[in-house]
Amino acid sequence: MTSGREDARAREPLVVVCAGGGGVGKTTTSAALALSLARAGRSTLIVTIDPARRLAGAMGVPITDEVTRVPLGVAGGRLSALMPDPRRSMRTFMDQLFEEQPAAKARLFENRLYRVLADAAAGVHELVAMNLVARASSQGAFEVIVIDTAPSRHAIDFVTYPGRLAALFGGRAVGWLAGLAQRAGVAGESEEAPPSGLLAWGASRVEGLLARVTGPNLVRDMASLFGDLGLVRERFVALTQRAADLLLGPRAAYALVAAPTAAARDDVLYLAGRLEKLGRRARALVLNRADAGPAAYTDALRRGVSVPASIREAVDVLEEERTSRGSAADALSVDLGKRLPRVPIVRLPQVDAIAPEAIVAALSALLDAHLATLLPAP
Ligand SMILES: Nc1ncnc2c1ncn2[C@@H]1O[C@H](COP(=O)(O)OP(=O)(O)O)[C@@H](O)[C@H]1O
Ligand SMILES: [Mg+2]
Repeated sequence: MTSGREDARAREPLVVVCAGGGGVGKTTTSAALALSLARAGRSTLIVTIDPARRLAGAMGVPITDEVTRVPLGVAGGRLSALMPDPRRSMRTFMDQLFEEQPAAKARLFENRLYRVLADAAAGVHELVAMNLVARASSQGAFEVIVIDTAPSRHAIDFVTYPGRLAALFGGRAVGWLAGLAQRAGVAGESEEAPPSGLLAWGASRVEGLLARVTGPNLVRDMASLFGDLGLVRERFVALTQRAADLLLGPRAAYALVAAPTAAARDDVLYLAGRLEKLGRRARALVLNRADAGPAAYTDALRRGVSVPASIREAVDVLEEERTSRGSAADALSVDLGKRLPRVPIVRLPQVDAIAPEAIVAALSALLDAHLATLLPAP
């Protein structure tokens, strides 16, 4: 007999977070993995935090905040996708805003409350996406959620935002501010309401001083903001905490994606270090574009009688590139195998195709054999 708690846990989805440097094939690998899982009969949701529009188009998925079914063309499996639209980061905005006020900017960046909020704002898109995932996972019966992260080596840090925000908003500071706003009588009041509550609030020394320094409208706006936040606080904390549990709970695994380049290698090692700091370990390493698949055109062109010398030369260059890709991947496998000895490596080839859906389909067929390696350990 299983307890209710075990039943609940069994219904929680497995989560695979794909992270890696820019352009290594995270989005492609994530889509291929999700497709492979769905074909294996697992109800799967793919979440692309940084949607490649071509891929969204290829999968027939609109870039919206809605979960959309992806037609699979095979019976049994169920694949859904969530591709919310990314926004500009708060940090860039602040840099522009404070361009001529470096001292004020430095002070602001040292402010503890600001730092938590700004970190979250830098990952505000991820946060929104993860809250959408949390909501979708409590509504839909997904067995596996594959999360494709943004093209940045800092992208993995977003996994900590939900927990930190849940702690901040669940903590005393926001409750205190919300209470203050309520006492001031500004939370949820109608536009016509007289500012009697605010005047009463202004009587207190600290609050009166604040009002003098910043003007009553700003105080009113701040109080109103925190008052309104107070209204949705429990919901926000619950949703954000659920996102944190999904990302950092025992049913989450991290797949690091790399390509055989020095930059991708450094990114993977950096991310492995970040994960270790979070008390997590990479579940697997996907070495993408590691091997060149057979190129039918090479032989055909070489054997061709009337092929001009310039084309032959170009083919030689391509061949050279294909071989060196393989040996670079071999060297990288050995190197990463030494540095991350407990992390299994899954090699995926360079696919000779241009259409994203063809690349995803080819890689997905290859991933069928590696699902157990990539999913969180049972
Ligand atoms: N194994 C592969 N073979 C051929 N092309 C690939 C492969 N992996 C990725 N690509 C292509 O490389 C480009 C970048 O891949 P993408 O998945 O968008 O990278 P990322 O999400 O890491 O930025 C895309 O055009 C994609 O189709
Ligand atoms: Mg991508």
